[in-house]
Amino acid sequence: MRKILAIVATGALALTMTGCGRSTDTSGKDAIAGGTKGTIGVAMPTKTSQRWIKDGNAMKTQLEAAGYKVNLVYANDDIPTQVTQVNDMVTKKNQLLVVAAIDGVALKGVLGEAKSAGIPVVAYDRLLRETDAVSYYTTFDNLKVGVQQGTSLLAGLAASGKPKPWNVELFAGSPDDNNATFFFNGAMSVLQPKIDDGTIKIASGETDFKVVATLRWDAAVAKKRMENILTKSYASTDVNGVLAPYDGLSRGIIAALKGSGYGSGGKALPVVTGQDAELESVKSILAGEQYSTIFKDTSELAKATVKMIQEITSGGTVTVNDTKSYDNGVKVVPTELLQPVPCDKSNCKQILTDAKYYTSDQLA
Ligand code: BGC
Repeated sequence: MRKILAIVATGALALTMTGCGRSTDTSGKDAIAGGTKGTIGVAMPTKTSQRWIKDGNAMKTQLEAAGYKVNLVYANDDIPTQVTQVNDMVTKKNQLLVVAAIDGVALKGVLGEAKSAGIPVVAYDRLLRETDAVSYYTTFDNLKVGVQQGTSLLAGLAASGKPKPWNVELFAGSPDDNNATFFFNGAMSVLQPKIDDGTIKIASGETDFKVVATLRWDAAVAKKRMENILTKSYASTDVNGVLAPYDGLSRGIIAALKGSGYGSGGKALPVVTGQDAELESVKSILAGEQYSTIFKDTSELAKATVKMIQEITSGGTVTVNDTKSYDNGVKVVPTELLQPVPCDKSNCKQILTDAKYYTSDQLA
């Protein structure tokens, strides 16, 4: 009798699920799997950087256009806030989670709960580390970003006409963001040989990732470190180049340099790199201050992510173009890699308006 009841119960459940097209469960919340379009949870790190606002907006617009509902949240660069937000998405049974982590490791507990609840997780731009709960990853070729930054720095130094050896200082991103190591390693693959052969001198002597890293990508921290370096190592000589991994840091570094007399009275600003093509930095590039940035089209990243979400939620084949670069400590996460584009004063306006990232009016 018990056995028959169990079979009947299972059959009833299956019927309910088929009948509902698996779109909603009995409590009215989104079902987790099965060819329907429920609510996608999108967890973004912060609104202090323009890029993440663009990412969030692009994800929301494109997901809605594809027929999903969107639960978009920002965590103000605060790890406990992001843990709570992701936990809330699991509790609400969002259909799939898209997460751009503040700290790549800190979410592993709550992501484990998502996995137990059968909710797929896509790491967005930043790898989610030390968890098997992440199914896929969409990002730009982060190592290439670093190579492009290093290459642009050398090009700028060569164009500056300054005599060698060139004095350069190094900055890296947040040590808890997996991308920061990729950017730094990519840049150093270009710069280290030049340090070794004496073309580049690091007057501060600070070259170790842990020392040059900038917690939470905080511009004020980078500004302070640049000020300290200028006081300590550049009393009698000029700095000619600064490896900066992100536009927000570049602007903090340029502020420190200006405060020390660079950029006026015949004392040229050094070559300063960047990343993200943030509007303020693009204007600085056009004005001849920041030297370059790396353009990563966030609407293209959203597009690739939405395509992946459609493939996952329809139970179809998920296409990726990289299955070896991103080992998160537990598994190699299948990844869709997009291509970053370096730009400087000579081509920035063209590249960004062609991509419709900015209008010419915005860059006027
Ligand atoms: C992103 C960069 C961004 C940085 C700071 C990284 O994870 O890939 O585009 O500049 O975070 O927000």
